[in-house]
Amino acid sequence: MRRYIFYVCFFATLLIRVSAQSLQWQQVAPGVWKGIAGQPESYDLLKASGSIPATEALQKMGNSPLPINRNDITASVVDGKTYLRFPLAEKEQLFGLGLNFQTVHQRGKILQLHMDHYGGKDNGRTHAPVPFYVSSAGYGVFINSARYITVYAGASVRKDSKHPPAEKNRNEDKSWSSRPYSDAVEILVPAAGSEVYVFAGPTSLDAVRRYNLFNGGGVLPPRWGLGFTQRVKTLYTADDVKAEVDSFRLKGYPLDFVGLEPGWQSRAYPGTFEWDKKRFPQPAKFVKEMLDNDIRLNLWINPYVSKEAGFYKKIAPYTGSHTVWVGEAPDFTIPQARNIFFEQLKKDQVDIGVSGYKIDEVDGYDYYLWPDVARFPGGLTGESMRQTYGVLAMRYSLDMFRQKNERTYGLVRASNAGANSFPYVIYNDYYNHEDFITALINSGYIGVLWTPEARASKTSEEWLRRFQTVIFSPMAMINAWSSGTKPWSYPDVAEQVKELALLRMKMMPYWYSEFAKYRFEGTPVFRGMSLEPGFEVNAVSAVKGNLDDNPYLEATTKEVKDQYMAGEYLLVAPLFTGQQTRKVILPKGKWFDFYTGAYAGDGEIITVTPGLDKIPVFVKDGGIIPMMEAKLHAPRKGEKVDLEIRVYGQKQGTYKLYDDDGQSLDYEKGAFDWRNIKIEKDSKGKLNGSIDAPHNKNVQSYNKITFRFMSGQ
Ligand code: GAL
Repeated sequence: MRRYIFYVCFFATLLIRVSAQSLQWQQVAPGVWKGIAGQPESYDLLKASGSIPATEALQKMGNSPLPINRNDITASVVDGKTYLRFPLAEKEQLFGLGLNFQTVHQRGKILQLHMDHYGGKDNGRTHAPVPFYVSSAGYGVFINSARYITVYAGASVRKDSKHPPAEKNRNEDKSWSSRPYSDAVEILVPAAGSEVYVFAGPTSLDAVRRYNLFNGGGVLPPRWGLGFTQRVKTLYTADDVKAEVDSFRLKGYPLDFVGLEPGWQSRAYPGTFEWDKKRFPQPAKFVKEMLDNDIRLNLWINPYVSKEAGFYKKIAPYTGSHTVWVGEAPDFTIPQARNIFFEQLKKDQVDIGVSGYKIDEVDGYDYYLWPDVARFPGGLTGESMRQTYGVLAMRYSLDMFRQKNERTYGLVRASNAGANSFPYVIYNDYYNHEDFITALINSGYIGVLWTPEARASKTSEEWLRRFQTVIFSPMAMINAWSSGTKPWSYPDVAEQVKELALLRMKMMPYWYSEFAKYRFEGTPVFRGMSLEPGFEVNAVSAVKGNLDDNPYLEATTKEVKDQYMAGEYLLVAPLFTGQQTRKVILPKGKWFDFYTGAYAGDGEIITVTPGLDKIPVFVKDGGIIPMMEAKLHAPRKGEKVDLEIRVYGQKQGTYKLYDDDGQSLDYEKGAFDWRNIKIEKDSKGKLNGSIDAPHNKNVQSYNKITFRFMSGQ
C-alpha cells in the first residue's frame, strides 16, 4: 500500500511538473501584472537594479485588467528549466527583446538574450539583452530572470496550437514556407522558475511607459549632459586637454564635457583607478580649472583591478574566480567590494569634481570576459553576473554623486532591465551608421539610451551625415579616443558641423523637457514609429530599398528602421552616405518642415532631397518647440536664458515646459516646475501663445519669452 501511494504521488508530481499550467496573476501596480512560474531564483534583473516603481505616475495611468487571456499564458518546469508560452494573434508585431541593430520587428526571430558586445547579428547577443517585448496589440511582457533566456518570438509551432499553419505541399504549392506561421511566443529560462510581468496599454506606448515607470522611470540628465561632449585621444595629457578645450572655445564650437580615455590612469587593462602623475601631475587643479571654464570631465574605466592598484589587497577577497585581462573583477553584489571600489573613485576623482564615468567592457566578449564556469564570492554564477554586471556598476556608482547632491550622465557598454532610470548611455565599438539609427529606435522600446557616436569618417559627407544624427540623440558625442578627430577635422563641412552643434544647444529647453517626461511619465524621448499614433504601418509597403524580407508576411508588416520620433513633436529622417534623396513616412495629421515651417504632408509617403547640409526633421501640427540662444555651454545653475517658442502648423495646442536647477537632485524633493504653454486661436482665428508664470520662485531658468509662428498665422 505504502509503495502504491508513493508511486501515485511520484507520478502526480511528475505530471504537475511537466504539464503546462496557467499562472497565478496579481496586479502589483496599476496595469502591471505579475505571474510566478515555478520557484523564481533569489537573484534576478530587478534585484540587480534595485529599482523602485514610480507608483504615483503609474497610478495616474490607472488600473487595467490583465491584457492577455490568462488561460493562454502557460508555464511548466522541467529538468530545472522553465518553459513559458504566450499567445500571438495573426496581425501582431513584436518590438524590443534587446538592443538590436539591424531589425526592429522581432516576430519570427529566435533570440538568445545574452550579454555581449554586438557581433553584427541580431541574435540576442548584445549590450542590453533586455527580456521585454511590446506588442503592436498594446501590451508588454517582461521575464525577470538574470539568465541567458531563449525566446522563440513566433518561431515555433506546437501540435496543440489554436491557430496552426496549414500544411502545404512543397512540390506543388509555391506559397510553402520554410518557416510556417506560429501563434505563440515561447521562452526557455534555464532556471526552475521566474517572475513574469505583463504591462497593459491600451496603446503600445502606454505599455512601454508602464514598463519604464515600473522600473523607476526614465533618466533625467543634468542640463550639461545634453550639451556636446568630446572624448579625447587616449594618451592625452592635462595640457593637451586644455589646448583642445581652448580650440573649441576659440573656434566657437559648443562643449560641455570632455571624456578622458584609458590614459588618465597610471595603468589600464587592468586599471589602478588612480591618475597618471606624468600626464596629469595635478589632478585637483586640472579638474577645477576645467570646471571654472564650464567643462566637466568624464573618466573611462573598466572595473578590472590591477595588482598595482592601491586598494588591490583590500578588494581581492571580494573578486570573482577568473580574471579579465589579468585584472580582478569586483563582485559588486558584496557591500565591501563596492565600498572599496567606489571609495577609491570617490576620494580620488569625484571629490575633486569629476562628473561621471564611461564604464567600459562590462558587456564582455567570450574570449576576454570571465567564462560561464566562473563563480563569484557573493554566490552568483558567471552567467548571472554577466547579465547584470553593467547594471550593478551603474547602480552603485550613483551613490558617489548622490552624496554630493549632483547628477551625473555617463556611458556604459552593458545594461539590462531595471536600469531605466540610471543616467548612462550605451555605446559600442561597432560602427555602421544605418545600424546605429536602428539601435536608437530599438533603445526606446526597452528602456535604455543609446548614442550613435561619431568617431571618424572616410569622407566629409559621411562625417556630416553622422554628425546630423549625433545631435538628435541622447548624447551628442565625438569619441576620438583613437582617431583624434575634432568636429572641424573635415574642413569642407566644418561650418555645417558647427551649425548642427549649435542647433543642439538651441534645442536644449526642448530636450530637457522631453527627458523630464521620460523621467516622470516614462515616455521614451527617442522612439520607433510604431509607438506613434496615426502611423500606418501598411503604408510602408510602398517604400522600396531598405525593407527586410520577413517570412511572416501574413502576420507582419514591413519594418521602418531609418526614421524615428524625437520628443513629443519631432520626426527625424536621417540620410546616410551616398543618399541624396529618401522617402519619409508621415503619420496621419499634418506635418511641417522643422527649419522653415512649410507644410510637408499628411499621412503619406513623401520624397525629400534636402541637400548635404540638412537632416530632414518634421514637426507635428500644433507642435511647440521651446528653444534658447545658441550657447557654448549649458546654462549653469541659476543662470537665466531667453526662450523662443516655435510654433508649427495651425492647430491649437499645449506644451509642458520643464524647469529645475539643471544639476542637483533637488528635483527629487519637488524643486521643479512644469509651466504650461498654450497656443490658442482668437476670435479672428489668429494664433496666440501664452505661458504660465513660474510656480516655483526658486526654479526660474527662463527670462524673456517670445513666440515665433513658423507656419504663418
Ligand atoms: C573600447 C571602447 C572605446 C574606447 C576604448 C579605449 O572598449 O569601446 O570607446 O573607450 O575601449 O581603450
